Amino acid sequence: MAEVLLETKALSFAYGEEGRNRPALEDINLKVLQGEYVAIIGPSGSGKTTLLKHFNALLTPCRGQVLVKGLSTAEKANHPEIRRLCGMIFQNPDNQLVANTVEEDVAFGLENYRVPPAEIRSRVAELLKQMELEDLARRPPHLLSGGQKQRVAIAGILAMRPRCLLMDEPTSMLDPRGRRELLETVQKLNREQGITVLHVTHYPEEAALARRVLVLEGGRLAADGPPREILTDLALLHSLGLRGTAAAEMAAFLREADLPLPPKLLGQDELVEQICSLLPAI
Ligand SMILES: Nc1ncnc2c1ncn2[C@@H]1O[C@H](COP(=O)(O)OP(=O)(O)O)[C@@H](O)[C@H]1O
Ligand SMILES: [Mg+2]
Repeated sequence: MAEVLLETKALSFAYGEEGRNRPALEDINLKVLQGEYVAIIGPSGSGKTTLLKHFNALLTPCRGQVLVKGLSTAEKANHPEIRRLCGMIFQNPDNQLVANTVEEDVAFGLENYRVPPAEIRSRVAELLKQMELEDLARRPPHLLSGGQKQRVAIAGILAMRPRCLLMDEPTSMLDPRGRRELLETVQKLNREQGITVLHVTHYPEEAALARRVLVLEGGRLAADGPPREILTDLALLHSLGLRGTAAAEMAAFLREADLPLPPKLLGQDELVEQICSLLPAI
């Protein structure tokens, strides 16, 4: 049985002086196991970013608790280790690259943690290779494409040997190729290195890559289940102003036109297969 990496116990949070605003998170109870790939969806303002920020102690609870590998984010002394364990990737890659060259950017976090210079050089070289950034090592980050910038940001986090990537709509500013490459990279890190992934997204097709989907609504956890259950539940999703995967939406139209399709069709391939099986042999 995998170990619990992230846990919230009755987590509530409100912004404003002494948490005076309407709660942004209310009574969230959640466990994420080491190695899970979890998508987080929900309408704008439902608390997705606020929740993610609690897992690297950028925010701390007003009530309840957040534990990262058993370390409470309420203890300031735990923050450096929590931030090493859980790195955050933001929507806009320009806001997270700080150095003059790609290699300096990847080394930046390590320097702050006082890792010896020889160790920094070897980790940076390893990460540039792994993230296919070797040819760009001396380039200024601001000249890279959006997808390359996100890969540099991920390399900088991986250099810290983290256990978890917290990604807040990481593909929303990328073109289709950059988006595909980033998603492949993240899936590979999850599969091959057991890096836990929390991935906030507006794209149902991205959420379908996860093994588990959380739905937030008004700061509360509205649903938690496998992609096939959540992303084909159009009654739930439409009530929140969200949509299912393209295949789930199309299947619903076709059922209305009396095509006898099975329930819970999630992906394009299976939809096509089912439609073909209904056609007379050509
Ligand atoms: N820095 C902030 N100050 C005050 N209120 C905020 C701040 N950031 C977010 N909020 C409010 O908290 C709620 C949750 O926001 P957020 O976590 O950003 O949602 P999401 O990421 O799902 O769009 C919203 O009502 C939002 O207006
Ligand atoms: Mg957000």
